Amino acid sequence: MVEPVVEIHLGRAWIDQALRADVAQGLVSQPKELPPKWFYDDRGSELFDQITRLPDYYPTRREREILEREMEVIAERSGADTVVELGSGTSEKTRIVLDALRATGRLRRYVPFDNSEATLRNAAAELAAAYEGLAVHGVVGDFEHHLGHIPDGGCRLVMLLGGTIGNFPPASRKDFLAAVANAMAPGDTFLLGFDLVKDLDRLIAAYDDPEGVTAAFNRNVLSVINNRLGADFDLGQFEHEARFNAEEEWVEMWLRSRCAQRVTINGLGMTVDFAQGERVRTEVSAKFRSENIGPELAGVGLTMERLWTDAQDDYALTLSRMVG
Ligand code: SAH
Ligand code: AVI
Repeated sequence: MVEPVVEIHLGRAWIDQALRADVAQGLVSQPKELPPKWFYDDRGSELFDQITRLPDYYPTRREREILEREMEVIAERSGADTVVELGSGTSEKTRIVLDALRATGRLRRYVPFDNSEATLRNAAAELAAAYEGLAVHGVVGDFEHHLGHIPDGGCRLVMLLGGTIGNFPPASRKDFLAAVANAMAPGDTFLLGFDLVKDLDRLIAAYDDPEGVTAAFNRNVLSVINNRLGADFDLGQFEHEARFNAEEEWVEMWLRSRCAQRVTINGLGMTVDFAQGERVRTEVSAKFRSENIGPELAGVGLTMERLWTDAQDDYALTLSRMVG
């Protein structure tokens, strides 16, 4: 086994400073807002993993279906020897990709990139053990700051799976896609998954499960702030809400204050008042229409070569190329 290498760009001080800035700004804005990247400490990553197994959370299963059906073609078309996975999480579906590239005889390197260090380290160790001779070079970084640290070399298949692209609001989505394109070399390809617009009931069921796993995931952002910034959020006093914004075509997750309350954030030397019923927006998850995807990618210089959907048209996977 080749020992995995893990590069860390998110030290304790960096994380605390970035969280401080996001909380100080987000909890005085109107409406209050927290960025979804803070869900993913060890517990949040574990809860997301549970979400992917919920009966009503279809995106993971639909994406796996497309990968299983099309990965042989994708491996051939990409010509890749290196897989770079942004927001790799537990790297579970990655095995389908690595198996197909191994079958071409070219697979050499896997580069997981995530802001959740423990989750990335576990995934890196498991994949290095499972794929003899595979060089695993993990990067613990933030999408918005550290894409420039993705190692060069080889012919790379860059991936962003799970519908994670939907968690960027449109303006920052464009910046993010431009930064990804900028990190790619001519000939590299980009495998990108999109959750599609569908029936309202199914969308809401996917984000409001009766088991309460998504609610726990949502509230976990408050635990992260309690633990890292010495705050005293009482999680029981915030209710999980998922709603579909039909105008923007995205699902929104909110935390709704059950009562009038004051929260102290020692690490920021600040208190925050919540009126009864006041809400904090913690995530948007955009849902896409297939016809808009190609033009959006073209806007950052990527040529979409193929778009596949699952049998129920719930989810789309695209392969695009950086043309030199
Ligand atoms: N690709 C996996 C996981 C998706 S969950 C799947 O398809 O199931 C989103 C992943 O992105 C999580 O692992 C989370 O830790 C990571 N992530 C979220 N925001 C991030 C950011 N700003 N920078 C780096 N990683 C981030
Ligand atoms: C990671 N991301 C694509 C998930 C989504 O569906 O937007 C996060 C999530 N939020 C609630 N459930 C899952």
